[in-house]
Amino acid sequence: MKKLLLLGDVHGNFPALKAVGDYIRPELFDWIINTGDFTVYSTFPNETIRWFREKKNTACILGNTDRRVLRILKGKKLKRPKKEEKRVMYYWTSENLHPENIVYLKSLPKKTDLTVGPIHIGIFHGTLEDPDEELYPSAPDGRFHELAKDSPYQIQIMGHSHVPFHKVVDGVHFINTGSVGRMFDGDPRASFAILKISSGKIAVEHFRIPYPVQKVIEGLSNHHLPDVYAKMFRFGKKLN
Ligand SMILES: [Fe+2]
Repeated sequence: MKKLLLLGDVHGNFPALKAVGDYIRPELFDWIINTGDFTVYSTFPNETIRWFREKKNTACILGNTDRRVLRILKGKKLKRPKKEEKRVMYYWTSENLHPENIVYLKSLPKKTDLTVGPIHIGIFHGTLEDPDEELYPSAPDGRFHELAKDSPYQIQIMGHSHVPFHKVVDGVHFINTGSVGRMFDGDPRASFAILKISSGKIAVEHFRIPYPVQKVIEGLSNHHLPDVYAKMFRFGKKLN
């Protein structure tokens, strides 16, 4: 049996990532997957990236927030987001990332894949077709049929919508890990999933675990970052 730890959308929330690591013992997994958005909206992007850098057998990709941070670091202008309170979080992250973590982010692809026994697994931030597509479990069936059609992958793992789900459509398993660091459903606990593959059989379990939210709030206030983010982390809600 192979065990894969499915993580994503950590958003610099190292206290949440550490709580997940303490809860599940990452060294017991054959693969650790990160669907992207390591950075932005919390003040621990370096600790977050280092955690993944130090692990063996990782399959990690960039998310939209990471790509924007890299854009700033290249000296390019940020077109989006438009709201100043959001932009400030991107600029803070780009100014505070350590060089070795910038090198690491630059080395990552926008999507990747893995083969575990007979099973091909695609890893995306948004979807197989678009890294910026937010795929919700409530999306029309037709969209899932399109993404399943001619899919070279029996499993498509994704993040970006921050909504955990597992759906099987036309024999393809669609798994969203939920967000480790920034849930929006009114429950601030960290979300992640475990995928087990045994003799071609696929089993998925999602988890929600508590973490010390106060540490994230203190990080934001220590760096004089917008109060609205402290509220978002406290209540597990998107407020802007
Ligand atoms: Fe995200």
